[in-house]
Amino acid sequence: MKYFKKLLTSAALLAMSSLTVQADEFRLGLITPPPHIWTKAAEAFGAELAEASDGAHSLSVFPARQLGNEAEMLQQLQTGALDMAFMTVAEVSNRAPELGAFYAPYLANDIGHAGRILRSDSAKSMLEPLPGQVGVVGLGYGMAGLRQIVSRGDVSSAADLAGKKLRITPFAPILDFYNAVGAAPTPMPLPSVYDALANGQVDAIDMDAELIWVLKYYDHADTIVQSDHMMFPMVGLVSAKVWAGMSEDDRAMISDLMTKHVDSTIDSYVAKEAGWLEQIAGTGKTYTKVDASFFGNAIDEWNAIWSQKTSSLDALRATAADTE
Ligand code: BEZ
Repeated sequence: MKYFKKLLTSAALLAMSSLTVQADEFRLGLITPPPHIWTKAAEAFGAELAEASDGAHSLSVFPARQLGNEAEMLQQLQTGALDMAFMTVAEVSNRAPELGAFYAPYLANDIGHAGRILRSDSAKSMLEPLPGQVGVVGLGYGMAGLRQIVSRGDVSSAADLAGKKLRITPFAPILDFYNAVGAAPTPMPLPSVYDALANGQVDAIDMDAELIWVLKYYDHADTIVQSDHMMFPMVGLVSAKVWAGMSEDDRAMISDLMTKHVDSTIDSYVAKEAGWLEQIAGTGKTYTKVDASFFGNAIDEWNAIWSQKTSSLDALRATAADTE
């Protein structure tokens, strides 16, 4: 009996101590590969969190979908199985359609303008419903580059995309856009894209300059269309369950540091995007730069669909006008 009592006490102590340790050893998941700007920002956030908390908190970063795809990570955040994520707003917009307003084609004139829109109060206010709606706390925005089109075969007009299997990130606003263009949008998560274009499973991809250049998505393509047609925001998330269990001091520290590091990605893309595009243009592939007129009526069609799906479009357009 005495033995069992002792065993129970040690088991209870072990459970308690592992609970305490778990609370301070945060895990952050994301789908981007290790060299990607988002992954580097997540690692810098972890280093600064350890330093600011005098080693009380540590953060393990799991890049490249190690914890699952974004839909799976969002579920883990909801249950508290995952503490934090840097996630595409695209994925969150599947649960919070208001966020779809960010994908209005040509809402941003250029990458700097996209950053100013994301740093606005109206953009920040769109994160407020997330705890109740999705079970996550959205602390701040980051972003990736503007979206471009990379294709096997020639693309001199949008008509050349008709019926083409065109890889998209899996979320509704971009699906509606390419349906309006007349392509055959093919939802596919990031890690499958290189092989899919290489083996002809898709004819074209919707992608940003960093990934086209750094992950060499141009390798198996003939044409790059620099269309800059959409911005691509990211959001720093904490599980609402985990957040509820944190002290006020910890929340303030995590909020400040996570916001700082997701926001730093905006500066990185503003600084680097033009250079990547120049290098892509120098690869010898056919490189064309187009504007909204390339897409014909597709943009009006998108606007008609999404003015029904989100009430945030007008506010974001007003912000876009104010921040031009
Ligand atoms: C994409 O799905 O194309 C993507 C995802 C995360 C970062 C950048 C691009």
